[in-house]
Amino acid sequence: MTNNEQTPQEHTLDQSLMLLKDGYDYIFKRRREMDTEIFRTRLLGQPAICIGGKDAAELFYDTTKFKRSGAIPKRIQKSLFGVDAVQTLDGEAHRHRKMLFMSLMSRERLDDFMELLREEWEAAAKRWEQVEEIELFGESQELLYRAACRWSGVPIEEEIVRERADDMGNMVEAFGAIGPRHAAGRRARRRTEEWLEGFIMDVRAGECKVAEDTAAYAMAFHRDTQNRELDARMAAIELINIVRPIVAIGRYVVFSAIALHEHPQYKQKLADNERVYRQWFVQETRRYYPFTPFLGASVIHDFTWKGHEFEEGTMVLLDIYGTTHDPKLWDEADQFKPERFEHWGGSPFDLIPQGGGDPYTGHRCAGEWMTIDAMRIGLDYLAKRLTYEVPEQDLELSLSRMPALPESRFKMKNIRRTDSAVMS
Ligand code: HEM
Repeated sequence: MTNNEQTPQEHTLDQSLMLLKDGYDYIFKRRREMDTEIFRTRLLGQPAICIGGKDAAELFYDTTKFKRSGAIPKRIQKSLFGVDAVQTLDGEAHRHRKMLFMSLMSRERLDDFMELLREEWEAAAKRWEQVEEIELFGESQELLYRAACRWSGVPIEEEIVRERADDMGNMVEAFGAIGPRHAAGRRARRRTEEWLEGFIMDVRAGECKVAEDTAAYAMAFHRDTQNRELDARMAAIELINIVRPIVAIGRYVVFSAIALHEHPQYKQKLADNERVYRQWFVQETRRYYPFTPFLGASVIHDFTWKGHEFEEGTMVLLDIYGTTHDPKLWDEADQFKPERFEHWGGSPFDLIPQGGGDPYTGHRCAGEWMTIDAMRIGLDYLAKRLTYEVPEQDLELSLSRMPALPESRFKMKNIRRTDSAVMS
């Protein structure tokens, strides 16, 4: 038997349709059935290797073995990421571009963002008190969009602010979709890139003034490894790579609201011991709820891992959802249990909803700390600073809808600010 034959294999034709059907569970279901951390299949008309678990995550983030260029399908680049953006770069070009993103994430600048975000939650809460019912998904995306624009130097056009925020959200909505949802994401991307390309040119020409510590300034005047300015379109794409994922935190706000609604005992626990519970609750929300299903890369040179052969050019998918639900890593993995984080060792390769490894040297999310802090603020409002009713609605999360979102988008009624909100 060759090493290749040792690797479990799906003996069927192309599995792309099954991937759409099983969604988040596609890799994990097969890993469970075959009791394996690795199997071979065919996806998008080519051979693919699917891997999952902590060791697999460590392997996937070895930049001597995997590259991203050529591994991210154009349909994802034209909706979610932008063509040829940071996610697709490797080696020195990637490290240089990544430093640009990480330079925006100093503690001081994150604190500035959190202050703006609190102001936007406060303003939104006042608006919500005036209406009978709201849909949290759209509302939280808008308030995050407002904070993101103020922080990053992007102008807020008040008359179309919700449309702009929805465009950011629709790029994310497109990633696992075919048909109208995908098409809407592409249109949103085109519109937003055109708008921000013009804005970058105005910033360069001095017609729009932006502060030097903002993302808009950084993208407009960044110089690549050859000391050239980014093409204005590319600068716009990378600016979107800041604003869009901030807006995407709205999905985690909805997941936090669902978790609190379905596990109301945590309201009291959060009130009694806010310091530890808020962090545990946020981490468990990121672990438990489905956001990124898997990530793709391609093999640089032939190599063997645990007796399995990886051939140059093969597409490899890392199971993100399955790794964050793996019973070998997480006790009662299918239960929402924030207390598990009391004993979590802090490995960079098991809690990987935003990728694994080191954000400075690899592709791990540049905005993970920002996401955690922003979720803590959202939770503060949902658990403490607001009172509200949750009317009857469909809150089910289907694993075949990528990205996951409840049909009702979390409706809330009779919202009031509590004294702690009104007085602060
Ligand atoms: C909504 C919450 C978020 C989720 C679920 C998320 C998830 C991810 C994932 C899975 C990756 C890919 C990791 C990889 O390819 O190995 C990533 C990359 C990235 N994220 Fe996030 N992210 C979030 C929020 C943010 C925020 C708030 C920012 C910035 C403001 C951000 C900026 C980035 C950037 C620039 C990359 C590309 C990194 C690279 O390729 O080196 N993300 N994110």
